[in-house]
Amino acid sequence: MDIGIDLGTSRTRLFIDKKGKVLDEASVAAYNVAENRIIAVGDEAYAMLGKTPDSISAEFPIKDSVIDQSLLVEDMLNILIKQVYTGKIIMPRVVSNIPGDITEVEKRAVVNAISSFGVRRVYLIENIKAAAMGAGADIMGAHGTMVVNLGAGTCCAGVLSLGGIAMSKTVKTGGNKMDDDIVKYMRREHGLVIGNPMAEKCKRTIGRLVPIEKEVGFRVKGRDSLSGLPRFVDVTATEIMRVLMDTAKEIVSIIKDVIEETPPELVGDIYTDGIILTGALAKLEGFDTLISEVLDIKVTLANEPEDCVILGCGKAIDYIAEVEKNVKNDINPLMAAY
Ligand SMILES: Nc1ncnc2c1ncn2[C@@H]1O[C@H](COP(=O)(O)OP(=O)(O)OP(=O)(O)O)[C@@H](O)[C@H]1O
Ligand SMILES: [Mg+2]
Repeated sequence: MDIGIDLGTSRTRLFIDKKGKVLDEASVAAYNVAENRIIAVGDEAYAMLGKTPDSISAEFPIKDSVIDQSLLVEDMLNILIKQVYTGKIIMPRVVSNIPGDITEVEKRAVVNAISSFGVRRVYLIENIKAAAMGAGADIMGAHGTMVVNLGAGTCCAGVLSLGGIAMSKTVKTGGNKMDDDIVKYMRREHGLVIGNPMAEKCKRTIGRLVPIEKEVGFRVKGRDSLSGLPRFVDVTATEIMRVLMDTAKEIVSIIKDVIEETPPELVGDIYTDGIILTGALAKLEGFDTLISEVLDIKVTLANEPEDCVILGCGKAIDYIAEVEKNVKNDINPLMAAY
């Protein structure tokens, strides 16, 4: 049995060979602080965020797409894998994605966390390659394909050709930064203290990056910053759009940088084919339109953009055999095995 693992800042996704995506849960672990004992992981732990007593802590152990708390990640992974694989796990081979600008130490942390449940071998694939493969793009030919993956902790723009990355840039910003901006805005402009889950709900419900024709609102619930008492504020989509725009523009400028630094022959391909958007944040209303308008380029939202990376890890499983048999293939998307 071979499996794919996408350890994302906000979600962990698992893929089992010949089955497809089998799990998609929040990357959260809740534990008893005194006893250091895991209480819940995934969506169950996410529901506890901000509501835990002192004795319990619920945390995201992956920050900006890299492992921040390795023991929590190991526990979380072990429990999630057991949820989807009840049979006896016979030393699976694993393909997992890593962000573009990762250090050796950070890479090692991913491999160690995955190895902790007894795997035969871990193969790594760069995030943007997995995203492109999962979106169904042909990245093996002598043709430039531009993919932008928009996540919670990082966003990456890359141009792929001949199975490799011709140009790419990763920034530590994304959906989480937008949520932080909503939290700060509500406090500053409305004197309302809210948690990140409420901000995320607001972003997902009315968030958008293109003007709205018929205004809609969202009731943000929190605590008055002065009295400390419960209070709510009704915000409009237009108001929240202005809050989200700073981060969105930063992301668009990264995409522009990548295009500007890409060799001319490949840029020609990109202008003909356009850009493919992946990652769950790509579902933010109007993100595709904003990029397309600012950069004057065609933008296509991938089907189920949140699944592209994990599906790409799944597809990359097919390349393991070649690596193991030492077949020389310059366009194999997998990085070294560990
Ligand atoms: N329908 C939606 N509209 C707007 N934003 C959304 C929607 N669905 C998810 N998001 C946002 O997308 C982000 C999560 O994206 P994704 O699941 O691709 O990230 P991740 O893989 O966990 O993180 P990363 O790749 O950065 O490590 C979150 O900020 C979430 O709020
Ligand atoms: Mg991701």
